[in-house]
Amino acid sequence: QIIHLEDYRPTDFVLERVDLTFELDPKETKVEARLIFHRREGVDSAAPLVLDGDELTMTGLLLDQEELATTLYDVAEDTLTIRGLPETAPFEITITTLLSPETNTQLMGLYRTNGVYSTQCEAEGFRRITYFPDRPDVLAVYTVNIIADKASSPLLLSNGNYLGGADMGDGRHFAAWFDPHPKPSYLFALVAGDLGVVEDTFTTMSGRDVALKIYVEHGKEPRASYAMDALKRSMKWDEEAFGREYDLDIFMIVAVSDFNMGAMENKGLNIFNDKYVLADPETATDADYANIEAIIAHEYFHNWTGNRITCRDWFQLCLKEGLTVYRDHEFSADMRSRAVKRIAEVRHLKSEQFPEDAGPLAHPVRPTKYREINNFYTTTVYEKGSEVTRMIATILGRDLFKKGMDLYFDRHDGQAVTIEDFVACFEAASGRDLRQFALWYHQAGTPLVTASGAYDATKQTFTLSLEQTVPPTPGQSAKEAMHIPLKMGLLLEDGSEAALAAVSGADMTDDVLHLTERNQTVVFSGIPSRPVPSFNRSFSAPINLHIEQNADDLALIAHHESDLFARWQALNAIALGNLVEATANVRAGKPVTSDKALIDGLIRAAADNSLEPAFRSQALALPSESDIAREIGTNNDPDAIHAARQQILTAVAAAGRDTFLKLSDELVSSGGFSPDAASAGRRALRNSALTYLVQADEGPERAAKAFAAANNMTDLSHALALLAHRFPDSAEATDALATFRKRFADNALVIDKWFAVQATIPGAGTLDRIKALMNEPLFNGNNPNRVRSLVGTYAFANPTGFNRADGEGYRFLARQILDIDPRNPQLAARILTSMRSWRSLEDKRAGHARKALKEIAGASKLSADVGDIVERMLKA
Ligand code: ARG
Ligand code: ZN
Repeated sequence: QIIHLEDYRPTDFVLERVDLTFELDPKETKVEARLIFHRREGVDSAAPLVLDGDELTMTGLLLDQEELATTLYDVAEDTLTIRGLPETAPFEITITTLLSPETNTQLMGLYRTNGVYSTQCEAEGFRRITYFPDRPDVLAVYTVNIIADKASSPLLLSNGNYLGGADMGDGRHFAAWFDPHPKPSYLFALVAGDLGVVEDTFTTMSGRDVALKIYVEHGKEPRASYAMDALKRSMKWDEEAFGREYDLDIFMIVAVSDFNMGAMENKGLNIFNDKYVLADPETATDADYANIEAIIAHEYFHNWTGNRITCRDWFQLCLKEGLTVYRDHEFSADMRSRAVKRIAEVRHLKSEQFPEDAGPLAHPVRPTKYREINNFYTTTVYEKGSEVTRMIATILGRDLFKKGMDLYFDRHDGQAVTIEDFVACFEAASGRDLRQFALWYHQAGTPLVTASGAYDATKQTFTLSLEQTVPPTPGQSAKEAMHIPLKMGLLLEDGSEAALAAVSGADMTDDVLHLTERNQTVVFSGIPSRPVPSFNRSFSAPINLHIEQNADDLALIAHHESDLFARWQALNAIALGNLVEATANVRAGKPVTSDKALIDGLIRAAADNSLEPAFRSQALALPSESDIAREIGTNNDPDAIHAARQQILTAVAAAGRDTFLKLSDELVSSGGFSPDAASAGRRALRNSALTYLVQADEGPERAAKAFAAANNMTDLSHALALLAHRFPDSAEATDALATFRKRFADNALVIDKWFAVQATIPGAGTLDRIKALMNEPLFNGNNPNRVRSLVGTYAFANPTGFNRADGEGYRFLARQILDIDPRNPQLAARILTSMRSWRSLEDKRAGHARKALKEIAGASKLSADVGDIVERMLKA
């Protein structure tokens, strides 16, 4: 059934306190929940209490300690309804439920894998633990008692502060925790098991000491030190940048190896996919380090944006996620290079969110209906949500944005609120009307801005004609004009910048042009010569931009823009133009030619020692095959795109050979490994150079040598990918894969990389490899990371391998989805979204894709998660 935003109303009963007692057992855990409620003022005295439940066995139900007559309650499939409750007085409901953590393969609620009990309650997992008003606007104070076998679970953790514990004398022990901060049930957490710990302390800005603990499997403690360092930097940064201080005596992180998502911000007890905690030079890449830093920060920042101030209902998910992603982006930008970070963000946004917004799964940042909320933890809610927050900061400017954030924290601390409440804080702080701006939350689809310019030499004016359109998306055929903050500059021939002093036809604040009408004509006066406009500096708005700009104009931007991001953007635009044309040529049987402006631009950026290496590496990375497909938009042939891109890569490799050789020599790392951004940037640039050199190689020797010489995981996995992707059938590739497997066989996170490298070997033949790899002893269909690394990577990141012309890739995926769905619906649904762009394929492939989707849709029993995705995907 479908849930609608407009149906929201507060609960009839107010929950005051929660007391939970867990008697942990792998097969039969007993949960006793004591809940104190009172009827909300004005609510009908006959209204029953309706609690949510999912797959629970109830063995006891008391009202104020007395057994409840069976005539006074009903247990249905997913609710418990209790009647005859006091009119005004508070009352206590005691519910006893039984659950089986060991057979909970969904990994929602309380589950046990590898001997560790842990929980995941967001969004609706708490109802798998006990009957409860499981919605984010029900905030209560929790006490938690945990009883468990002492030998197998010496460690007993929950939210808040530790109250105490004791031996029970029967081989069991208990611990009690109290969380003084009222919280919604989705932030509940419990962990029990036998784990190692890394400890530290942090002194907050007001001088309070906080104990920091990161729990990992025994023996993995040394691999948690980077996460600890990132945590301390996050705590400090949130004090400095947002004035936010931590609010408990202890902050804990637990790393678990079976986890459906990245991590979870449970109050005081974050639970992480161990992929985002564990790192050392031998086993983690620079990208892993950067992800750990970002996700540790993200979850920590949720303490204020999510936990202290939470969501009224799940439609408001972006209230906490968009804002918190924005905060972690700003943190990483401050820790690393801001421009390089922004380039990486935009690459990610365009490759993940833009296709979602352009396909059958498109939805507003703040949706108005859903069938399964788990399917709305999307890049639209997260990444576009972050971009919307960033635009508020751009429109208001730094100081007013800060004032608005302060007001938000002040006004709503301890509340469950809405996007409207959030936006109102910025309106109040700035005096600006943000009603039109708020359309960004409500209208799905990536806006398209078309621009053309005309220079008048006698009047010295430059006239810009701008038009915006927002494409139709499911359920939204007509759109209103948006407020688009477009940062821009006008570059003159010599690379200097024209002053934007006299402007008519649009509001401008500094270099931000406010586009608010469907059509707008903007005139800049006092422009001494024909300017080249540079639009959307730092990607100030998440839009597509069409402007007739030749490669020379783009090259001028690429060489002279003061905004480094805009330089990269211009280079990327040259490359994309060339790649789209090359693809058309491949399909027409014509020869592919490479653009001189592209080759010159890339090599010039690569060789420019005044630029930071990480930037130069980003400049060298051509748009991906899916970037090209997105730019083409319809009737796509992934094989043609691949062939075209390979030819351009080869042309760049040939032209830049000397530069790349020089870089690969100069940038050999000397001394020990450091994960800092500058060192990572040098490794990235060297590996980019190596990629081009290998592209031009006839044989695998150079790549094999790089593999043998690598002394850290960044270089090692890069060399392995070069070998396996460029020379998949060589003895060298086979050897390297075998060596890698043997060396890291007992390190699951590294073996995930081994599967992923093989899943991304281009070409139709890879499907057979994948099938063989599924019979590998190291494959494990119950571990989400492992399934994602093989099946997920194949479907998401191997355009030619997955989109086989005969449709076998889609058929394979359909069978996998149907296999995974019964044990882990969330995992199945997530992997299925890899087909979100199927309608943009050429007819034959699209036909095969539709058939595979129909096969899933027609299965006899589907989870709500997969059922929802496949239904939306097939809807015309
Ligand atoms: N709140 C978590 C985070 O963003 C993610 C939870 C994902 N939950 C889900 N049901 N998919 O940090
Ligand atoms: Zn989050």
